[in-house]
Amino acid sequence: MRLVLVGPPGAGKGTQAERFAREHGIPKVSTGDILREAVHSDSELGRQVKAVMERGELVGDDLMIDIARERLSRPDAVGGFVLDGFPRTAKQADALDEITAARGPVICVEMQVPDEELVRRVRGRRVCDDCGANADAFEQKPGELPDSCQHTERCREVGPKWVARSDDSEHVVRERLKIYWRDTRPMIDFYSSRQTFRAIDGMQTPEQVREALDSAVASALGLPAGQLKTLVAQKLGGEAAAPSGARPATEGRRP
Ligand code: AP5
Repeated sequence: MRLVLVGPPGAGKGTQAERFAREHGIPKVSTGDILREAVHSDSELGRQVKAVMERGELVGDDLMIDIARERLSRPDAVGGFVLDGFPRTAKQADALDEITAARGPVICVEMQVPDEELVRRVRGRRVCDDCGANADAFEQKPGELPDSCQHTERCREVGPKWVARSDDSEHVVRERLKIYWRDTRPMIDFYSSRQTFRAIDGMQTPEQVREALDSAVASALGLPAGQLKTLVAQKLGGEAAAPSGARPATEGRRP
C-alpha cells in the first residue's frame, strides 16, 4: 500500500497518516517531522531549513527530493508507506513517480477543509515539546499519552509538555496557506485525473474522516469498503505482523 495524503496545513494529514500507518503496519513518512527533528537536533540539515520553516515557506525541491528518496528506499518502506507532506510541488510529484515507478501505483487522497477552519485548528494545535507528537485529535482519556507519542523517557516520567509549533502563529499559518494555494493545490491536478485519486471531506470528526479515508483507499484499490479491514487483518496475521504493542516506524520523534 502506497498512500499519499495531500491537503492544506491543518487538514488532518498527520493525524490520519499516523493512525493509518499504525493500523496497516506500514511506516508514516512525514517530511515535516523529518525536518522538525533535524531542527530540534541542530543538525546541518536543521540549520539549513530552520528559518525557511519559521517563515512558512517551502524548503527547496532538490533537498526535499533527496530526503524522500533516501527515506523511501529504506527496507521498511519497500512494502508500503503513508506519505504526509510530500510531494508539495509539481517537481516533487514527478520525482515521486520516478522513485515509485517499479513499485506499482500510488493512491493519492486529498483532504479538503475550508481555510478558516484550518487557521482555527492550527492555532489550537499543541505538540509534545519532548517527542514532537501532536496532542491526539482522536478521543483520549485525561492524562493519557496520545497514540502518536513515542514515549520517550521524559514523556513516560512526567507526561508531555504541550507547546505550540513554532510555525503555527496566525501570521505564518496564513503564509503557509497562501503557498499551499499557489504551489501545492495546482500540483494536486497532477493526480486528480488518475484512477487512484480520491478527495474526502476533512471537515468532519476525526473518526468520520478516518472512515472516509478507509473507504476512499478501498475504492481506489477496487475493493468493497469493508474489505480493506479484512486485508489488513490478514496482513497483520501473516509475515507483516508486528509484535504486540509495537508501533510502525514514524519519522521525527525525538530521542
Ligand atoms: P508539515 O509538517 O508537512 O506541515 P503542513 O503540511 O503545513 O501540515 P500540518 O502539519 O500543519 O497539518 P496536518 O494536515 O498534518 O494536520 P494535523 O493532523 O497536524 O510541514 C511543515 C513545514 O516543513 C512546511 O511549511 C515547509 O517549510 C516544510 N516542508 C515539509 N515538507 C516539505 C516539502 N515536501 N517540500 C518543501 N517544504 C516542506 O492536524 C492539525 C490540528 O487539527 C491538530 O491539532 C489536530 O489534533 C487537529 N485535527 C486533526 N483532525 C481534525 C478533525 N477532523 N477535526 C478537528 N480537529 C482536527
